[in-house]
Amino acid sequence: MAEISSSVTRSGPSIASASEHLVEVVQELSLARSLERVMQIVRTAARQLTGADGATFVLRDGPHCFYADEDAISPLWKGSRFPLGACISGWAMLNRQHAVIPDIYKDPRIPHDAYRPTFVKSLVMVPIRKSAPIGSIGTYWAHERVMPPEQLKLLQALADSTSIAMENVELVSNLERRVRDRTAQLEAVNRELEKFSYSVSHDLRAPLRSISGFSEAVLEDDGENLSDGSKAALGRVVAATGRMGELIDALLGLAKLSQSPLALERVDLTALAREVFEALEQANPGAKVDVTIHDSMLVEGDAPLLRVALTNLIGNAWKFSSKAASPHIEVGSRPVDGTVEYFVKDNGAGFDMRYAERLFGAFQRLHAHTAFEGTGIGLATVARVVARHGGRIRAEGKPGEGATFAFTLGPTVVATGVA
Ligand SMILES: Nc1ncnc2c1ncn2[C@@H]1O[C@H](COP(=O)(O)OP(=O)(O)OP(=O)(O)O)[C@@H](O)[C@H]1O
Ligand SMILES: [Mg+2]
Repeated sequence: MAEISSSVTRSGPSIASASEHLVEVVQELSLARSLERVMQIVRTAARQLTGADGATFVLRDGPHCFYADEDAISPLWKGSRFPLGACISGWAMLNRQHAVIPDIYKDPRIPHDAYRPTFVKSLVMVPIRKSAPIGSIGTYWAHERVMPPEQLKLLQALADSTSIAMENVELVSNLERRVRDRTAQLEAVNRELEKFSYSVSHDLRAPLRSISGFSEAVLEDDGENLSDGSKAALGRVVAATGRMGELIDALLGLAKLSQSPLALERVDLTALAREVFEALEQANPGAKVDVTIHDSMLVEGDAPLLRVALTNLIGNAWKFSSKAASPHIEVGSRPVDGTVEYFVKDNGAGFDMRYAERLFGAFQRLHAHTAFEGTGIGLATVARVVARHGGRIRAEGKPGEGATFAFTLGPTVVATGVA
């Protein structure tokens, strides 16, 4: 009872005050965001809770114990590694139980030579996470001592809280690492896109201006000497260079997409899809593609960006189904999770689903350039347009059977409990 009345005695603080202190320590541990902080809290708490002359924080490092941190009246083994089988912290981890040793020189589990230079005469070692220990907490006294069972319980409670704190630190640092990796990936993609936009504007704009300029000059200066067919063909060249110029501008705009606000308006995706197919049919007069476009697909969005997205998705469907026996492309919509999903579906070359996510990265291609031409920027562009509208895009495919690219243009309503 003497222990309870005085707050600190030679055998440590009273159980009541130690319990109170433990509650504070657990709160502190729950806020710790690094292993260093956890160790700092625990080594101090272990000493204060038990009134010990020293405390160590030992981590399991494969087949070794690593004395990672300590708080003691004179140095112990901070920074040292010992085989698990050659030290008492290893014994506690391997046997998943505490060791209470009133006199270390009478216990055969103790490597006496390692203790002789230290003040230690008695000790208590508890494993951190009993089910599968990841470390242990040691408390040491300069005199012979048996730890009271209540104090031992407190120490084990500290070790249990420590294991939760360590798991939290790992979870948080994993999450932080994933966010960092993801951000780095996104930044790399953005840099690639910006580089691409830069080279598009500088390398392609000048020849494009020549093509349209010289075609217009021929039409103006020599138009009367040309056949109607040639004039129409040149007219298409001029129109196509105009469209290409628009695409280039859209790409350049995309590079700055995150800064510029969307110009939202009512957009008729049905009409837009028809225009895209008309252009493809004009550019490939012999192609026999069976096209289905759903009616009245009206959305709220940025018209030039949605045109870029549809041009890419339909262009892909056209390209990757061009070798099918009877190509069929469907552009449609369907209700999904409380919102509407728009899709472009074809019965062409398809792809292996294992690489579905990769397709949206810049310059990622699954088909050889010799089989289907392309640079691999299209879907990265579409993904950015969709993301900018707050939507999601996903791809489904099967080699030889076709592909479907489906996107939403607003946040999906997700069922409770499903991330
Ligand atoms: N409809 C589709 N069917 C099968 N595979 C597709 C389809 N659409 C895209 N892919 C795959 O995704 C890759 C990336 O598509 P993306 O549009 O980004 O590039 P690309 O069409 O090859 O080149 P670019 O669009 O820059 O001209 C393609 O190379 C192809 O492997
Ligand atoms: Mg493409």
